[in-house]
Amino acid sequence: MPTEGLDSPLSRQAVWLQNYRPRLRLVEMGKAAAVGDGVVWVEGLPSAAMDEILRFDDGSEALVFHLGKHRIGAILLAEGAGLNAGAAAHLTGRGLDIGVGDTLLGRVVDPLGRPLDGGPAPHAVSRRPLEAPSPPITARDFVNQPLVSGNKIVDTLIPIGKGQRQLLIGDAGAGKSALALDLVVAQQGRAVLCVYVLISQKRSAVVATLDTLRRTGALAYTCVVVAEATATPGFKYLAPFAGCAIAEGWMWAGRDVLVVYDDLTTHARAYRELSLLLRRPPGREAYPGDIFYLHSRLLERSTRLAARCGGGSMTALPLIETEQGDIAAYIPTNLISITDGQIYLDPQLFARGILPAIDVTRSVSRIGGQAQETAIKTEAGRMKLDYLQFLELEVFTRFGARLEAGIATKIQRGRLLRELLKQQRLSPLSPEQQMAWLVAYNEHLLDGLAGEALAARLTSLLERAAASGLTLSDGREAWRTAATEWVGHEPAA
Ligand SMILES: Nc1ncnc2c1ncn2[C@@H]1O[C@H](COP(=O)(O)OP(=O)(O)OP(=O)(O)O)[C@@H](O)[C@H]1O
Ligand SMILES: [Mg+2]
Repeated sequence: MPTEGLDSPLSRQAVWLQNYRPRLRLVEMGKAAAVGDGVVWVEGLPSAAMDEILRFDDGSEALVFHLGKHRIGAILLAEGAGLNAGAAAHLTGRGLDIGVGDTLLGRVVDPLGRPLDGGPAPHAVSRRPLEAPSPPITARDFVNQPLVSGNKIVDTLIPIGKGQRQLLIGDAGAGKSALALDLVVAQQGRAVLCVYVLISQKRSAVVATLDTLRRTGALAYTCVVVAEATATPGFKYLAPFAGCAIAEGWMWAGRDVLVVYDDLTTHARAYRELSLLLRRPPGREAYPGDIFYLHSRLLERSTRLAARCGGGSMTALPLIETEQGDIAAYIPTNLISITDGQIYLDPQLFARGILPAIDVTRSVSRIGGQAQETAIKTEAGRMKLDYLQFLELEVFTRFGARLEAGIATKIQRGRLLRELLKQQRLSPLSPEQQMAWLVAYNEHLLDGLAGEALAARLTSLLERAAASGLTLSDGREAWRTAATEWVGHEPAA
């Protein structure tokens, strides 16, 4: 029978216990000075750092957001019943992070990763910090792959590449959220994962968004991060960073991700509210002074990674609301300068029923052109010229002037194009379908059609293009022949 030798673990423990002398250990302790509006003021804790989590005795947690000379201002993350002035506060040395990975697909979570859909807490194997540096330049690659948006105007005239940051800008109710949702739905079967961040939206809007995602099957490849209108400003402030961290998890795993921030106007408002509550000193003419930095550090994290870093990408669609179409206001101009282009949604086009209400003259994609499919780019170039000419000439027709025959034809073609560019919600087109209608238009195959006749021909053209098996690498001649046949074919009554 083995006996316990002097070297056995048991006897070593006994020796350690015998020799143990408790020593003095210094631990910093602070105390809550005031609690309210989702923030807490703490006194003490001189070595607290920005973005560090503080823990209170009752289990409450707060995130350091403002370091004052005498007090620390912190955002409450979890508020226990016992948190009031005088409660002891401790440093944790941890920053805020969130679980990432495929367990989040199909889930609705709050900015701390807690489930909001009634399901169990997502079991995440890895976590990522909410605040992280953007990928270094050496880890990045050029944006050179198209992100299929399924939208006729976007894919042809304002193309988006994987890793691009494209702003959706426009007045309230101009269709920003609808377009962003369309882009998410268009990713079905395209191996692009999506993160949809809803910041400070009404419960009804959140439910409607979730309903659309569920109905179209898009929720299966999407994670929704929600900080409702009733959430504290702290949660609204954290929401896009949480969404970004989740997207980053997939990007570094080599996946393509599309992240929507709906919207950054309310985010800026929440940040301002938080700064006022925590009495942050004003910067220059704008308050708070670092609002530009807030959004640039968020959007700088989306990029296309180089192949040796996995080749993943994060495409960002921040939404921003304008007032009375004023794109020169402070926050919109900030975001225009941070992003790689913008899609401007015009309330006047919306009112005239030209949907989606994208104003092509004020929209731009600075880098997406390099990523566009060559075949579509060539066709779209011809179409764009026609459209821009038409928009200029159209002004003259308002005065009822008699038009030269050449100009009248151009206007007719422009009107046809405007009809063609209209698109119902949630009806994304594949690149092959885009090619089909572009060729049909450029080859004058749809000339003279209008109203229902045009709609029926177009529907049949798109259906047959989808079923044909023709790809973008087939030559133009093949496309022309096919399109001629498809358009000539009488649509089923
Ligand atoms: N292409 C479209 N076809 C038909 N209806 C559309 C289209 N785009 C938007 N709409 C409708 O326009 C309305 C406003 O759109 P949406 O809510 O997306 O606007 P928004 O810019 O996000 O507004 P807010 O600033 O209030 O969030 C919605 O009812 C939506 O269904
Ligand atoms: Mg909206």
